[in-house]
Amino acid sequence: MMDEPLAVFRDAGGSPRVVLDRCPHRNAALSDGRVADDGCIECPYHGWRFDGDGSCRAVPGLYEGDAATATARNVSWHAATERDGFVWVWGAAGEDPTREPFAMPDLLHSEHASKPRKNWQVGEVIFPCDLDATLHAALENTLDVPHTAFLHKGIFRGKRLKELTAERTDFDGGVEVEFIGEPVGLGPIQGGPFAKKTFKHWDRFVMPCVAQVEYRVDDWLEIFNNVIHVPLSPTVTRAWFVFRWWTPLPARLLAPIVAAQGRLVLRQDKQAMAQQSKNIERFGGERFASTDLDLLGAAIWRLLRQAEKAEDRQASALDDTLTEGATNLRFRA
Ligand code: FES
Ligand SMILES: [Fe+2]
Repeated sequence: MMDEPLAVFRDAGGSPRVVLDRCPHRNAALSDGRVADDGCIECPYHGWRFDGDGSCRAVPGLYEGDAATATARNVSWHAATERDGFVWVWGAAGEDPTREPFAMPDLLHSEHASKPRKNWQVGEVIFPCDLDATLHAALENTLDVPHTAFLHKGIFRGKRLKELTAERTDFDGGVEVEFIGEPVGLGPIQGGPFAKKTFKHWDRFVMPCVAQVEYRVDDWLEIFNNVIHVPLSPTVTRAWFVFRWWTPLPARLLAPIVAAQGRLVLRQDKQAMAQQSKNIERFGGERFASTDLDLLGAAIWRLLRQAEKAEDRQASALDDTLTEGATNLRFRA
């Protein structure tokens, strides 16, 4: 995480624990070791053992009264917790978290559930993808509608542009855009039985690393694409895609279609972001010119910057070229 190698293991109680992946003794990778019966992680070289708080619990062969102080033998640790099948790691070492991890929407108990849904089924597709992109570029890509009509033309937006309205609102710990009036359709499948229906569609950024896309069609479909981003380094971001949907159609039939469409779109995004990163490197930094269509990019940037207390000099330089974007906009996509 952010160029810091971490070793993740489960202690004797089964809880996830995270320590720096470097043995304080002679720098061996603790992740190459094993978890001993006492739930400590054991270095593969001389067998020092560390508990989940990073405290050195055993040094094989050592008599009492060794010269090294106990603290010098400890390894730094990160708070970790498990939720929705993910292990969430607190960014700063040696700190207790001040808030809970992102809560994945629970479609079965969705607050949006308006109709009886006893025959509806929940489907889910989860996969990771490493992107050659900054955290900001990856988050913006997931939530950027205009590129979908261009880069992904014909896949999930049709060849004909549609008029829609977007409204941007801040909420506590994030920002969202609601898109209003988009007729239901998927790539080449337009019109027909869905012609009169419209999507309800929200794009959200939830601090510090989640991009969420929600689509709803009354009586027919509810989809959440939650993308959890892990900055592996300043320019490589691991995106975990958690697609969940809720529909009267059989979830089993839909899963392969959703997965295939998702991967097709993602391949194009991955390539576009890699080329973008390569060019940024070629020019030695980023520069932005935005229009009102860039609804979330500047808002995400602002929130990320506030979080890092604007200490980064590069961040303030970029501030001039990222505009706020409209909060209410009619456009075509
Ligand atoms: S390097 Fe880890 S115990 Fe020696
Ligand atoms: Fe895309």
